Amino acid sequence: MPVVVVIGGQWGDEGKGRIVDLLARKARVVARYSAGNNAGHTIINDQGEFKLHLVPAGIFYPDKTCIIGNGCAVDPEVLLAEIGQLEERGVDTSKLVVSERAHVVMPWHRELDRLDELRRGDDAIGTTGKGIGPCFTDKVARRGIRIADLAEAEDLKDRMRNILDYQNKVITAVYGGEPLDFDECYTAYREFSNRLKPYVADVQKIILDATRNGDYVLLEGAQGSLLDLDHGTYEYVTSSVPSSTAAGSALGVGIGPTEITRAVGVFKSYCTRVGNGPFVTELFDDVSERLRNHGREFGRGEYGTTTGRPRRIGWFDAVAARYSVRFNGLSALVLTRLDVLQGLSTLKICTAYEIDGEIVDNMPANASVLNRARPVYEELEGWDGETSDVRNFDDLPKAAQAYIRRVEELLSTPVDVISVGPERQQAIIVNPMI
Ligand code: IMP
Ligand code: MG
Repeated sequence: MPVVVVIGGQWGDEGKGRIVDLLARKARVVARYSAGNNAGHTIINDQGEFKLHLVPAGIFYPDKTCIIGNGCAVDPEVLLAEIGQLEERGVDTSKLVVSERAHVVMPWHRELDRLDELRRGDDAIGTTGKGIGPCFTDKVARRGIRIADLAEAEDLKDRMRNILDYQNKVITAVYGGEPLDFDECYTAYREFSNRLKPYVADVQKIILDATRNGDYVLLEGAQGSLLDLDHGTYEYVTSSVPSSTAAGSALGVGIGPTEITRAVGVFKSYCTRVGNGPFVTELFDDVSERLRNHGREFGRGEYGTTTGRPRRIGWFDAVAARYSVRFNGLSALVLTRLDVLQGLSTLKICTAYEIDGEIVDNMPANASVLNRARPVYEELEGWDGETSDVRNFDDLPKAAQAYIRRVEELLSTPVDVISVGPERQQAIIVNPMI
């Protein structure tokens, strides 16, 4: 049975949560495999509107096992609060599972995230400030604490004291910050560990049992591929290891790459980015204002789910998207927020970059080169009229159809689903994918 991975093809916030919510219907298991509560998505369904940061979007179906994989960074306080809020609103979380191998976000990670952004000043990454970068840094430096470690009281005491000694030196000597108190951290995390215990298990086994049993498994990416450490716009990327790319999904739940049968990429019909870093098609005009504030009265404008920051906005960048299609090995695309584009007289798609007088159609590796790149645009006709109620491709305005067909052509990949509104039903399913 299929193991399908859904990734964000741009810089995050493409609407993956909503698509996972739609695709999860047929799945037995839905798993998050990377990142932490720097991610965030909004889901609107019969039970209301929810903003999730750690819990997989499949949680609203009572029959699905929802997994937070070993590749995730878990802030236990945030996770417990999210579980509490879901339960309070009548969403059953008893089928939530957290990998014993997932790394834990510690109080010093949040402090180091904050201090390092301050130190960078004008060169700040624009992180979400949730401590995710420092948590993954410590994972790689073999200085991390994992969910399984929290349950070993005595061992944890020694290990945590050792690590905090080191981190307090960094906080005070490198950054001039205030040291953190060991007892406070230790007591809090032992308490979190006790409360999380019912959710902790071996994730790999659950996924392999499901596939052996012929069940369909959905792996849910967080963030966007262009924030990937290797393939993204380095150094303006996120530090998740494994990353939120399709390839990262196998690592992040502990299965082999041959288990994955399909990779689906979610792209917004235009581009957005929160935080700093190159953005070739960025707009600073009426169009970006208009797109940012579309649906704002319903809390649907382009403002970050996690930080509330206004998102940067630009035209669809086919150079970046094509690159993302390739390194993710995408077999199908989902185009989201098509409805937001209605009412513009013309639309643009960036088909190449002009860099130092030369036309290039691939993605340069260096951020300053990317910052010098000028977009080469193709202009397309816009369309008027409401598309939110359209459910068949052929019923879309002709110009909208042409826009989607052009995206398919430029990316050499079919668009299987188009979302035209925030609600579960507001989608055009060209091909059901699963
Ligand atoms: P960090 O992940 O908090 O370290 O932030 C690094 C960069 O990734 C910043 O530009 C963030 O805005 C961006 N980022 C991290 N998570 C997300 C996400 O879920 N959506 C969009 N951008 C994100
Ligand atoms: Mg988001």
